[in-house]
Amino acid sequence: MTMKTKITKTKIAGIEFGSFVCNASGPNDSTLEELEAIVNSASSAIIFKSCTIEPRKGNDEPRYVRLPYGSIQSMGLPNLGYKEYIKFASQLRKHDKPIVASIAGLCIDDYVKMVRAFQDSDVDLIEVNLSCPNLEGKSQVGYDFRQTEEILRRIIGLGDKLVGLKLPPYYEPVHNQKMAKLVEKYKVSFITCINSVGNTLVIDPELEAPVIKPKRGFGGLCGEYIKPIALANVRVFYELLKDKVSIFGVGGVGSGVDAFEFLLAGADVVQVATTFEKEGASCFERINRELEGILQRKGYNSVQEVKGKLKY
Ligand code: DHB
Repeated sequence: MTMKTKITKTKIAGIEFGSFVCNASGPNDSTLEELEAIVNSASSAIIFKSCTIEPRKGNDEPRYVRLPYGSIQSMGLPNLGYKEYIKFASQLRKHDKPIVASIAGLCIDDYVKMVRAFQDSDVDLIEVNLSCPNLEGKSQVGYDFRQTEEILRRIIGLGDKLVGLKLPPYYEPVHNQKMAKLVEKYKVSFITCINSVGNTLVIDPELEAPVIKPKRGFGGLCGEYIKPIALANVRVFYELLKDKVSIFGVGGVGSGVDAFEFLLAGADVVQVATTFEKEGASCFERINRELEGILQRKGYNSVQEVKGKLKY
């Protein structure tokens, strides 16, 4: 390992990540072929698409549209079903990168069943997605603190693998505080902030129609548009939880500068989705290299020196 790689070495919940940048549960991580492209990239982890109990085709197309500063999507959880991802974990285990499963239940029992199954698998971390905005008729679990607590009560302590939560964006600090209390109470090991900004509408004025088809055009907004919301959520949770919980920052990371901003806010690792979809797997190396350049220029020797050190 070169000196350069070392300065962005980091950890999530005690698990070592070779760099500050990895993929997000989202685009291009559903099939073994896609996951192998992530293995062969500079992504410091292999994070799987959120899975459900049964395989799903997902929503009707168009369901993902690139926008000037990001994307809108309503994929509808297309995935191969959790059993395939358990197999993929054993096939990918030989590579020296942390493997992160992402699970998305359609009901509480689904969460329990999948956490139990992944506890007995080759993954390193289990990211429990409480924030998929794209299921017709279902609201995001992370906005319902009672349901979140019920899920936590049933999924924490099912095994030794560390469990984290992928959270929706919050806009009122009292909501971050409520979630932080649950995170502490149930000893959640990491949080991922934020999922896409749900239920947004992008209209094509020529067609006089929404740009995506599912849910009458309402979908999750991603990319640069949502970076300030993501930074605010990382910051608020960092202030509430400090070093008790690791934080994946996600939402609009397209450059080393973006990654550096997330680091200042308090992130331990950043995940990249929209830029990965647009640019391909070379983005992980580029973003991490840009971050290394910033750290070196500023005279820092590690990400730990900067983490959370936003100045006022
Ligand atoms: C999907 C979108 C999300 O934002 C998410 O967290 C999980 C799944 C989707 O539509 O596939």
